[in-house]
Amino acid sequence: MPQPFQNTILSWYSQNKRDLPWRKTTDLYRIMVSEVMLQQTQVDRVIDYYERWLKRFPNAAALAKASNAEVLRYWSGLGYNRRALFLKRAAEELVNKEKESHLPRTIEELQELSGIGPYAARAIAAFSWDAGVTATDTNIRRIFSRYYFKGAGSITSINNKIESETPTHGRVWNNALMDFGSLICTAKNPKCHECQFRKTCSAFEAGKTGRYTRIAPPQSKFEGSKRQYRGAILRILLKKPMTKKTLTAALIKELGDREFIEEVIGDMVGEELIKKEESNYRLT
Ligand code: ADE
Repeated sequence: MPQPFQNTILSWYSQNKRDLPWRKTTDLYRIMVSEVMLQQTQVDRVIDYYERWLKRFPNAAALAKASNAEVLRYWSGLGYNRRALFLKRAAEELVNKEKESHLPRTIEELQELSGIGPYAARAIAAFSWDAGVTATDTNIRRIFSRYYFKGAGSITSINNKIESETPTHGRVWNNALMDFGSLICTAKNPKCHECQFRKTCSAFEAGKTGRYTRIAPPQSKFEGSKRQYRGAILRILLKKPMTKKTLTAALIKELGDREFIEEVIGDMVGEELIKKEESNYRLT
């Protein structure tokens, strides 16, 4: 079935793509480094860090061998230092898997790497393998929620739209959506006057693009907060211990996907509210 949305976004991208260093590679390690850095920091700031990092740690083996102190030095200024240490641990895991000739081959296997949550796993799969998935974040959801402003009122219906438009080759598609969300369909002051979707965008038609377009009623401070996820983690683990993967899946099912899930689990281990025994997490 022809997908006018998909075609338009891809043709926009062919004329307007940003030249970003991590787009010049499909190497799993390099893509992983870029995605972990981009999780909390703006593209412009990440570029220098990414290039410096790869000069010093050009592959997983180099990072796995480095000391924590040096890793943190190269990360310094990006914030959330724990992510740097997770990245080092993920590099160690990759090196071990390589020895066993079993590098990750699926999104699920990517998620088993330290610090790689569901969003990063999808982004890595799309950029490294050209997998047919969308790494849906708030920017991508915003594009769809504007375009389908009338037809889709809930997060679930937006996610379904995204799913149905996702092509079998995800690399260009995800890059295109990310650039479109950064350059045209921005949260504040979107550039509708130069947007190729103007004629068919339902938020534009409804005059609702002037500010961030909400697709769901405003949330309370508690809804979607880390506090809510922490409560759910305790409740879920009280029933039975489980692996991080199962716990994350249960949280996503109950409350929706959030980039901070991995971080919250790590925090709670650090605070000794929960602990990891063998591969299962349980209450302390
Ligand atoms: N944000 C997260 N991943 C990104 C990527 N690969 N390019 C640009 N922005 C991003």
